[in-house]
Amino acid sequence: MSTEDTQACACSQVPVEQIEKAAVLAREGAKPEQLKGTRSGPEEKRLQGHWLLAKMGKRVLRPGGMEMTRRILTNAAPIPSDRIVEFGPGVGKTAELLLAAQPKKYWGVDVREDADNPLLDVLKGHEDAVLINADAKATGLEDGCATLVVGEAMLTMQSDADKMAIMREAFRIMAPGGRYALHEMGFRPEASEQVTGDVEKNLSRTIKVGARPLTLAGWEKLLRGAGFEVEYCTTNKMALLEIRRVIADEGLRGFLKFVFNVTRNPAARKRVLAMRKTFRANQQFICAVGFVAVKPA
Ligand SMILES: C[S@@+](CC[C@H](N)C(=O)[O-])C[C@H]1O[C@@H](n2cnc3c(N)ncnc32)[C@H](O)[C@@H]1O
Repeated sequence: MSTEDTQACACSQVPVEQIEKAAVLAREGAKPEQLKGTRSGPEEKRLQGHWLLAKMGKRVLRPGGMEMTRRILTNAAPIPSDRIVEFGPGVGKTAELLLAAQPKKYWGVDVREDADNPLLDVLKGHEDAVLINADAKATGLEDGCATLVVGEAMLTMQSDADKMAIMREAFRIMAPGGRYALHEMGFRPEASEQVTGDVEKNLSRTIKVGARPLTLAGWEKLLRGAGFEVEYCTTNKMALLEIRRVIADEGLRGFLKFVFNVTRNPAARKRVLAMRKTFRANQQFICAVGFVAVKPA
């Protein structure tokens, strides 16, 4: 079947009204986000896993939860004299913690630009906090401008080459003695190479974005390769969608809101349950890993 045939088949499954609505919006010069949900059924079917969870009201989108974020930040110890860069701040849950330290400057760097992002509310009221719409590989920030760089659940979705490019960018924008705090998905040491390949495929298929965790040793090797010295590391269970963790991360009210939103949206419910099933099926091989690395003075 040719590409065109495939497209025609996909189109034939979309209700005519939806195609007409998309055509009208496109003719009127609508922005891509206004066309959401018109490509092939509800956008909940296609959204990357973390944005689907965020759309359902979840604000903590990293594998080791707030519990591990706190541990990492206790070690990275943000203080008022810090100039902080956060890579991939998502909807701003960690930005809240970082801004509570009243740093001199905060830059969030995210590839996604979304006028409804709750992060923008978090930044409001902090004169020296800005969001830059850029790739963490090339932030456009000056050499040595930061004393603390933080990144959570944003490297795992990159290839090894891009992981390294982002770490090198963290190194470049950091002043000597600066700290790099990371929180990512990891493979347990007992996961064989054959297993890790299968797990990556299963995770990526379900969350609809590449998932490429590394072992603790693998992450450390990359950090050293980028020039950092690892000062602290920690691990936690990967329990992003387990009830106990969701309540711990979002609070009871946030948990109920999330469950309410997911329950009344069949497409989202199907995806979220599939994600949880895949996480559970691979539980024995995956975990959350955290580091604080330092740029030598
Ligand atoms: C899984 S979410 C994690 C959000 C947040 N850090 C958290 O832990 O709750 C990944 C975030 O990284 C951003 N992101 C992905 N690749 C990026 C890149 N190359 N540069 C900057 N941001 C990126 C995404 O847009 C998203 O906001």
